[in-house]
Amino acid sequence: MIFSLGKKTFFAAGALGAGMLLSKRKNAGDVNNLQGDKAIVTGGAMGFGFCICKRLVREGVEVTIWDLNEEAMAKAKQELESMGGKIYTYKCDVSDRKRVEELCAQAKKDMGRVDILINNAGFFRPGVFHERPVEEAVRQMEVNMHAHFYTTHAVLPDMIARNHGYVVNVSSSAAFIGGLGWSTYCSSKSAVHGFTDVLRTEMLCLGKKGVKFISVHPGQVKTGMFEGVNLGIVGKLAPPMESHDTVAEGIVEDGLKRDKTIICRPKTMYIMWMIRGWVPNKILDRLVGLPSKDSLTAYRGRPGMAHTDPEAEKKAKAATA
Ligand SMILES: NC(=O)c1ccc[n+]([C@@H]2O[C@H](COP(=O)([O-])OP(=O)(O)OC[C@H]3O[C@@H](n4cnc5c(N)ncnc54)[C@H](O)[C@@H]3O)[C@@H](O)[C@H]2O)c1
Repeated sequence: MIFSLGKKTFFAAGALGAGMLLSKRKNAGDVNNLQGDKAIVTGGAMGFGFCICKRLVREGVEVTIWDLNEEAMAKAKQELESMGGKIYTYKCDVSDRKRVEELCAQAKKDMGRVDILINNAGFFRPGVFHERPVEEAVRQMEVNMHAHFYTTHAVLPDMIARNHGYVVNVSSSAAFIGGLGWSTYCSSKSAVHGFTDVLRTEMLCLGKKGVKFISVHPGQVKTGMFEGVNLGIVGKLAPPMESHDTVAEGIVEDGLKRDKTIICRPKTMYIMWMIRGWVPNKILDRLVGLPSKDSLTAYRGRPGMAHTDPEAEKKAKAATA
């Protein structure tokens, strides 16, 4: 059945994949210089966000962190300042539109302007869709997606006026592929991908090429949010990463410095992205869908994760009481 796709299709997909994997990076002299830029990083207290902050500080970027976890944020600030960084931290639930707007104004007061917005804060709440309260799905959309509307809407007019800026949206490999228990998370991450992709097009159409959008698609990191997840065949193609910094490196080195508009890590995830568009669902269902029923059996996640989501916790309890 797989051969019904035709040899040409496979050669084209293979050539594209190889091209993307092997495409030459810009030379050191041609890369964007981030020195002196000002950034907001949501969810910057740990995981990817914190690794991104460290890399930005090394590039000479001033950083504002917004996070729900004040204790982790204080530790992050201390470490980043010990590296020589100029850091501002604010407690913020990124799904609170009013707070986001207030803090965008505050960031302009503190730093003068915002050149880089990293929409990274997010969480994963597993569950088979029809078995869970619908509030959980909505909450996941609020934090993982709606927050991107609020933050981007607040910073974009200034970026457009200066024809300069980067908006980096952390989606996931889950934007391309999912499994049993992943539906609401995948919805939020697909939405982030679509939003980013089309905003890039809008800026091109408006002649604002200096305002750049980067969509980020990490696979699984061994520890933290997806600890214990078993991705089956996807995990074989794109094995779990040892460190959150692999993704931070992709964002800063390939995205911000070299203008790549889509960042996949591990890099084999680029192939997954293409397979999603070319392979018929019947084949994907057998290869990825059905085996996914065991993906969450040993799921542990990040201990204490509930702190990121107290409202959903309350609503879920009330709905099931
Ligand atoms: N870890 C992975 O394997 C993986 C893979 C693909 C995509 N992602 C995505 O990457 C992003 C970061 O994930 P991570 O692994 O670094 O997670 P993490 O749990 O290590 O860190 C997330 C940070 O965001 C903060 N946060 C959560 N909800 C918030 C809210 N409502 N407002 C403000 N801050 C909030 C948390 O306090 C935490 O500091 C998320 O969007 C996640 O969906 C993660």
